[in-house]
Amino acid sequence: MDAIQLKQKAAAKAVTYVKNGMTVGLGTGSTAYWAIQFLGEKVRNGLDIQCIATSKQSEELARSLNIPITNFSNVIKIDLTIDGADETTPNRQLIKGGGAALLREKIVAATTEFYIIIVDEQKLVNQLGKFKIPIEVVPFGYESTLRKIESLGAQAKVRLNNEGSILVTDNHNYIVDADFGLIDDVDTLHKNINEIVGVVENGLFLNMASLVIVAYADGTIKELK
Ligand code: 5RP
Repeated sequence: MDAIQLKQKAAAKAVTYVKNGMTVGLGTGSTAYWAIQFLGEKVRNGLDIQCIATSKQSEELARSLNIPITNFSNVIKIDLTIDGADETTPNRQLIKGGGAALLREKIVAATTEFYIIIVDEQKLVNQLGKFKIPIEVVPFGYESTLRKIESLGAQAKVRLNNEGSILVTDNHNYIVDADFGLIDDVDTLHKNINEIVGVVENGLFLNMASLVIVAYADGTIKELK
C-alpha cells in the first residue's frame, strides 16, 4: 500500500467510531484530511454530528463538505476527536505539531473524551524524540525564549514558511522546532518547556490518546489501546 492508502485506511477505521449526535474534534494534517473527507461522506448520507476543528485549514475543508461546525461557546465536552501525529510510542505518548496546529490540537484533545490518533507504521517509535518537538511561542522576545529552550539541552530553530519568512500560526504565534535527541524523561521535559516564559504550549501529548490506529504497509491495522 502506498502512503496515501495507509492514511485512508487508518482514517476509514477511525470514522467507524463516530456515531449520531456526537460532537467531533477534527484534526489537522494529511492523515486527518482523510478522516474529514470520510466524515463529509457520512454527513452527506445522513450522519448527524457537529464538529470543532483544530485549524483554520481543517475548518475550511469541513465547511466545504457541509460538515456542521460549532465552537466552544456551545460545547462543554467533545465526544471524540480524530487527529494525526508525528510520532507515537506503543503506549500512545505522542509528538504533534508538524503541521503547526499543536495549540488548538491540544486544547481540543484536552476537552475530548475519546481521542483517536491515526498514523502509518512509520510514525511508530519506541522512544520519542527523533522528530523535533514543535513548541508554540509568542512572537515578542522569541529569540530569548528560543535560547531558554536551548538551555534545556536542545538545538532549536524558529520555523519558516515556504517563502522563507517566519511561519505564523492560526493563533498569531511562532513555532520553535527543538531537537532534544531521544527523550528519556518526557514528563519532566514537558513540564520544563512549558515553564519557560514565552512558551505557549509544546508538542508532547502525554497520556491523552485513548486509541492509536496504526496502518501497516501490508494492509493490516493495529489498534493500540
Ligand atoms: C499538525 C499535526 C499533525 O497531526 C501531524 O503533523 C501529522 O500530520 P500528517 O498526518 O500530515 O503526517 O500535529 O499540527
